[in-house]
Amino acid sequence: MPQASETPASASCNSDCAARPTIEVMFSADEIARRIAALAGEIAERRLDDLLVIAILKGSFIFAADLIRALHGAGLSPEVDFLTLASYREGTTSSGRVEVLRDIHTDVRGRNVLIVDDILESGRTLAFAKDLLAARGARRVLTCVLLDKPVARAADIAADLRAFACPDVFVIGYGMDLAHKYRELPFVGRIVDDD
Ligand code: IMP
Ligand code: MG
Repeated sequence: MPQASETPASASCNSDCAARPTIEVMFSADEIARRIAALAGEIAERRLDDLLVIAILKGSFIFAADLIRALHGAGLSPEVDFLTLASYREGTTSSGRVEVLRDIHTDVRGRNVLIVDDILESGRTLAFAKDLLAARGARRVLTCVLLDKPVARAADIAADLRAFACPDVFVIGYGMDLAHKYRELPFVGRIVDDD
């Protein structure tokens, strides 16, 4: 894992980033891009006809955007929809409650569905989404996550595809937030000096 870190000082720094803590890069933009290209190849090999990608918002929006472009590169033309779920958190740990905030608009009956999410942690979010789409009559529901934190699992679920195994630390960036911040970072990292 590269140990490069982001420092706040830069020529374009404004008042926002002056207060930014030091962030250790855990998965760089280049590493992520390489893994996504490989994942797209693996998905293409599964020959899932009439594929519907369902991205779980908000956290997966950057991963899903890069993955569907990689799927295009792998010769696929997936349909895409978005499911906004709230998995309530107390601080940085999951509380166990999952709720639909905004539903998909697609009829999933008989479809091959690929759920895309940012992190598989307790597994409750992904288990909830998988059960929901299966109950609505999807033919097959596969799951693809950017990060898998196996240590933190509470629900009985494993991702069909994952980009990286992740240590049990709170991560930010590449779509993932801490209190609504840091989604814009082009890499996945962790805060190392949050006083
Ligand atoms: P789970 O239901 O516990 O598996 O939680 C999954 C959701 O919690 C993910 O989709 C993320 O949105 C969020 N989450 C879990 N771990 C982290 C983290 O380390 N950083 C940011 N968000 C996280
Ligand atoms: Mg999420």
